[in-house]
Amino acid sequence: MKALITGASSGIGKDMAKVLKQKGYDLILVARDEQKLKDTAKELGENVQIIVADLSQEENCKKVHEQAPDIDLLINNAGFGDCGEFTKTELEKEIKMIQTNVTAYHILTKLYLIDFENKNKGQILNVASIAGFMPGPLMSTYYATKAYIVRLSEGIREELKKAKSNIHISILCPRTSCNQF
Ligand SMILES: NC(=O)c1ccc[n+]([C@@H]2O[C@H](COP(=O)([O-])OP(=O)(O)OC[C@H]3O[C@@H](n4cnc5c(N)ncnc54)[C@H](OP(=O)(O)O)[C@@H]3O)[C@@H](O)[C@H]2O)c1
Repeated sequence: MKALITGASSGIGKDMAKVLKQKGYDLILVARDEQKLKDTAKELGENVQIIVADLSQEENCKKVHEQAPDIDLLINNAGFGDCGEFTKTELEKEIKMIQTNVTAYHILTKLYLIDFENKNKGQILNVASIAGFMPGPLMSTYYATKAYIVRLSEGIREELKKAKSNIHISILCPRTSCNQF
């Protein structure tokens, strides 16, 4: 079994990589920081591939899919947030946040789901947040990005259920606080 994890160079993604390695998965770890990825891969041992990619760029998401065509489990996890009143936060940072937290998840979910449908098996875990279920004053953009992931995944899940598919899609929703960013 092979899993691809985005944002696997630290935090939740790195921890999930450790758990999956113990369960016997081969791993493909994706993030921007090459050294951190190399260190993580070394820590984890054999059968761990790394892909250095900035997923805020659409073409890089497509390249990741091309470089890792045959996986059993996709974990979309790479993401970040920001704090502050909506008119005072930085627009460019928010656009990057939307590209990373929303567009990259969307692209990878679609490309891998098409592959999974062709073999009628596969699993997707989209790391969202409890932020996806409520308004987020002082973190409006971040909360909105997570709401997108919750709704997208729920919609796809209904489609898969209706088709009696063997493919599974889930969301992970950890607690979020402003101190985190
Ligand atoms: N920690 C929490 O309490 C919490 C709560 C709710 C939800 N979440 C969600 O859980 C996920 C992981 O969060 P975390 O706390 O583990 O964060 P983290 O420790 O900051 O890790 C984020 C990971 O994403 C990667 N990343 C960020 N931007 C990227 C980009 N443009 N392209 C590729 N990789 C990128 C980072 O690696 P590089 O910097 O090397 O690219 C890093 O590996 C996020 O989606 C976050 O919103 C976390």
